[in-house]
Amino acid sequence: MPTPSPRASRRAVLTGAAVAGGAAVLPLAAASPAHADDLLLATDFSSGTTEGWYARGAVALSVNAEGSLLVEGRTATWNGAAIDITAHVEAGVRYRLRVLMRLPSGLDAADLRTTVQRDAAGSTAYETVKWNTAVTPDAWTEFTGTYSITQPADLLQFYVESASSLTPVLVDEFTLTRIQEPEIQDLLPLKDFLACDFPIGCAVEPPEVAGKPAELLAKHFAQVTTGNQMKPDAIQPTEGVFTFDRADEIVAFAEANGMTVWGHTLLWHNQTPAWWFLDADGNPLQSTPAHRALLLARLEAHVTAIAAHYGDRVWAWDVVNEVVDPEQTDGLRRSRWYEVFGGGAYIGEAFKIARRILPRKVKLFLNDYNTEFPDKREAVYNLVQDLKRKRVPIDGVGHQAHVDYRRDPQLLGESIDAFKRLRVLQAVTELDVSVSDHMEESLPATPPERLAAQGRYYQELFTVLRDRARHLESVTMWGLYDAVSWLRTWPVSRPHEAPLFFDDRLQAKAAYWGVVDPAQLPPE
Ligand code: XIL
Repeated sequence: MPTPSPRASRRAVLTGAAVAGGAAVLPLAAASPAHADDLLLATDFSSGTTEGWYARGAVALSVNAEGSLLVEGRTATWNGAAIDITAHVEAGVRYRLRVLMRLPSGLDAADLRTTVQRDAAGSTAYETVKWNTAVTPDAWTEFTGTYSITQPADLLQFYVESASSLTPVLVDEFTLTRIQEPEIQDLLPLKDFLACDFPIGCAVEPPEVAGKPAELLAKHFAQVTTGNQMKPDAIQPTEGVFTFDRADEIVAFAEANGMTVWGHTLLWHNQTPAWWFLDADGNPLQSTPAHRALLLARLEAHVTAIAAHYGDRVWAWDVVNEVVDPEQTDGLRRSRWYEVFGGGAYIGEAFKIARRILPRKVKLFLNDYNTEFPDKREAVYNLVQDLKRKRVPIDGVGHQAHVDYRRDPQLLGESIDAFKRLRVLQAVTELDVSVSDHMEESLPATPPERLAAQGRYYQELFTVLRDRARHLESVTMWGLYDAVSWLRTWPVSRPHEAPLFFDDRLQAKAAYWGVVDPAQLPPE
C-alpha cells in the first residue's frame, strides 16, 4: 500500500513528460525498459491544474495545496471525476489503469471503485476496472485493474465513483499503461492432456477473449463459462430489456475456437437486479400467491428470452445457484425467493420452467459451493433426492469447488462418489485453490513455498478427479490467470491471492505442472 505521500517516486517516472494543456503525455521514447509496460498517460496534479480530468455529474473539482484532485458535492454514486482515454486504447490490447484514492480527513471509510464508460455502436456500457474497495482518510488506497476492448469504441471515459456513499474524495497519481504481453509458452495444452478424462473449462470475462489471454484460453481450454455476463443483472438489468452483447462476445469466441459453453446462472440470490423483487409500485414482494406467480412469470420471461437467443448453443445451465444452507433445519438458504415462497418450492418450479422452455438436449444443473464438506454434501444430496422423487427435471449437480490449499482434496472425491447413487450428472464448475491463510490479507506478494504447496495440491486433486472421470461432465476453473481471479478482491483486497494455473503474466505455475507433469514440481 502506498504511503500518504507517494509523490517522490512518481517524479522520476514523469521526467521528460510533455505536459500540455491537460494530461501529461509521455513521448514513447521515454517509456521504461523493454520488458516493462509502456506508460501512455500520467497525471499527478503537480501542475496545479486538473490535467485533463473533468467533472462527472454536478460536482466541484479542485486541486488542493498538496497537489491532489479534490472531488466535492457528489449527489449520486456515479458522480466523480473522469478522464478521456479514447485516443490511447486499441482493440485487442490490454491496459493497466491505476489511480490512488483517499478521503479528506475526518470522514468515515467508504467503498469506492473505478469504471470505464464505453460508448460504441450507439450503446453505452459501464465496465468495472477495480471493484468496490474501502478507502479511508488515513492512507492512499491503490486502485489498479486491467482493461481492454474487443471492438473499436467512440468514447472511453475512465472515472472514479462509489458503491453507495456520497463522500468527497481525493484522487492522485493516475497512470494508463499498455501491458507488454509476454509470449504464451509452448506447453502441452491442458485440454489435450485431459482429453481422455473430461473437457477442461474456464470462467472468463470479455477481456479474456482478446489479445494474449485469448491465445492462452484457446490453447488450454475446451469449454468456457461466462463468469458474470449471463447472471440475471447482466442479461436483464431492467425488466423486459435484455442485454446479451457482453455474453455474446464470449460465446462467439468459444464457437470460433471449437469450445463448448456453460451457462451461469438463471436463478441466484446475488447479482439479481432490484426490480425482480419489487411490485409495480416499487414495494418489496410479499409472501402471497399473487407475488409467487409474479416471480415465476418473471423467471419464465427471462428463460424465454435466453432460449430464443442461445437455443442449444449453451449446452448446460446452472438453473439454480447456491440455494442450500446446511445451517437451516430444512437445509435451504433464506433468500428473497425463499421468503416469497415461504419455502423451497421455487426450486422445483425453476427446473420445470427451464425444462419446458430450453431445448430438450440442454442439461439442467443445480450448482453450489462447499459440497465437499459432509454437512453441505448431505443437505444438497437431500434436496436433489427430494427433487428426483418429485420428478422434477434436474439433470445434474455442479460442485463449485472454491477450495483452499489445506482442504483435504479427498473430500471432493467422496462427494462425487456419494452423488453417484442419485444417478445425476456431475461437474466441477468453479474450481480455484486459494493460497491464503487466515489474516494474511495484506501480504503484498505470494510466498513461493505456498505456490509449491499449491502445485502439490493440484496434483492430488486432479488424481482424485481423473479417477472419477466417468462421472464428471467437465471440470471448470474459475478464472484464466491469477490477476483476474475474483479472490484478489473477494471478500477483501488480497494482492497475494494466486488460485489458478497461470500467473499474472500468463505463465504456467507449479499448479499447471502438478496436473500435467508432477516431476517438474519443486522438491518438498
Ligand atoms: C463471482 C465473480 O467471479 C465476481 O467477479 C463477482 O464480483 C461475484 O461473483 N460463486 C458463484 C459465482 O457462483 O457466480 C461467483 O462469481 C463466485 C462464487
